[in-house]
Amino acid sequence: MGSSVLEAKNISVFEDYDALVKGMVELFVNLADESIKVRGKFIISLSGGSTPKGFYSRLAEAEVASRVDWSKVVVFFGDERTVPYTSPDSNQRMITELLLSKVPLSRENVFAIQDPDMDPKDAAIGYERSMREFFKLSGDELPQFDFMLLGLGDDGHTASLFPGSPALTEAVRWFVDNKVEKLNTVRLTTTYPVINNSRHIVFLAEGQSKASVLKDVLTGPEGKYPSQNVKAENGKLYWYLDKEIASQLEGV
Ligand code: 6PG
Repeated sequence: MGSSVLEAKNISVFEDYDALVKGMVELFVNLADESIKVRGKFIISLSGGSTPKGFYSRLAEAEVASRVDWSKVVVFFGDERTVPYTSPDSNQRMITELLLSKVPLSRENVFAIQDPDMDPKDAAIGYERSMREFFKLSGDELPQFDFMLLGLGDDGHTASLFPGSPALTEAVRWFVDNKVEKLNTVRLTTTYPVINNSRHIVFLAEGQSKASVLKDVLTGPEGKYPSQNVKAENGKLYWYLDKEIASQLEGV
């Protein structure tokens, strides 16, 4: 994949979804190993949607799970819909069913978003409070996740940072309720200050349907898509893609 534009971006393209999942697993295991060796823990924020399901499932398989010291892994959720945990649309439910319920995490190391469907404002305030209690920072210091997993929407959104939504300009709070007009709903999401402070930010995206938006995000004018505002200000940004979604990057 030529061009200085793309070479400057840390892009990995895999033959198909299965290979992409395997690549993601290797990255996760290696980053977990390094983080736990250096800092004694691996603090992660996980994304929802459908793309990461295969990754979560594979990570939970015994021969892979055994390669991670789950007792040292701390789990947060990058964003959530304002639905009850029992809803099929719940990110927390999906991630818990596919991964968290199958690996030996310490219960106190999984931070759930309480009652996202009750009062989104309260849920966001409550989650930021739990983040602050965990990270124990002073003043306006920002938390630093070791691993921030993100997806890419077909409109260029990421987490629950949607085009034109108020959270795009949030520069102080860590986690907010965010009105998404086009979906006629409120979402809960980690904000850019926290996302961009992560050590390793990984976009996991696949599929022909997003090839055009991905090309625009990576090579088009800045500021058009929320995912373009994700910058590794204190770490590294990765794009983990399958061949289909990367199909329009050839020769760029
Ligand atoms: C969510 C995600 C969201 C997702 C994208 C892509 O709550 O849905 O956090 O940002 O990553 O919408 O979703 P798919 O993987 O389903 O295409």
